Amino acid sequence: MALLEAMEVTVRFGGLAALDDARICVEAGEVTGMIGPNGAGKTTFFNVLTGLQDTTTGRVTLDGRDITRLSVHKRARLGVARTFQKLEVFGQLSVMENVLVAAEMRRRWDRSGPGPRREAHDCLDRVGISDIADVSVAALPTGTARLVELARALATRPRVLLLDEPSSGLNGEETEAMAALLRELTGDGLAVLLVEHDMSFVMGLCATINVLSFGEILATGSPSEVQANPAVQAAYLGSDHGAPR
Ligand SMILES: Nc1ncnc2c1ncn2[C@@H]1O[C@H](COP(=O)(O)OP(=O)(O)OP(=O)(O)O)[C@@H](O)[C@H]1O
Ligand SMILES: [Mg+2]
Repeated sequence: MALLEAMEVTVRFGGLAALDDARICVEAGEVTGMIGPNGAGKTTFFNVLTGLQDTTTGRVTLDGRDITRLSVHKRARLGVARTFQKLEVFGQLSVMENVLVAAEMRRRWDRSGPGPRREAHDCLDRVGISDIADVSVAALPTGTARLVELARALATRPRVLLLDEPSSGLNGEETEAMAALLRELTGDGLAVLLVEHDMSFVMGLCATINVLSFGEILATGSPSEVQANPAVQAAYLGSDHGAPR
């Protein structure tokens, strides 16, 4: 059984079906990919999985438990964490304070492990930014602020981590480091769902890739299966991102 699963998900915005009978399975210990042209419905799917977006129809389960009607907060408490395509960090706070907010929140429902400050420090260490703990986030380049957001998600000790374009704004070296970190995290049993436009990043990391187009899942399979799929190649024709290679 997949750790996080969504079935028959439809989301309508007026006449537009942003998701149309879509499904996805996210397994523990793996990076699962979700790719698709601009406007395909990827961020909408993330919003459905995390509880920010109501569905017209559909069901979301975590470890077999139906969480479709649970609030964002309750899902976070059960272990669903995310980062945002448009950065959502507290610009006026320091790097450490941003992560501390999440570590303190987790402390309210789980008193195991080290205290919040230690936990926050460990998370900064994990993503490699403990040397800038006291810097204001507003002063950081986008790529580094993305790492703050990732550290903040990790501070809730998630079981499933949803990353919406984590490599955007990162340079080549930072992207490599991000890939290594995701391998390490899944090695520890975390389930990661990754939305990315950087195809070499996706193809190198994901066990399974789901391709969305106009709200529908066109294909699900290994990187090589998805790349060889004619429907996938056709969906990418005319998109800004080219066919997945
Ligand atoms: N709140 C909303 N109200 C109306 N339409 C919306 C809303 N959110 C998204 N949409 C539309 O739903 C479709 C899917 O959008 P979504 O942001 O999920 O795509 P995406 O795959 O994440 O795209 P991108 O690659 O550009 O991030 C688009 O046509 C978008 O314009
Ligand atoms: Mg998006």
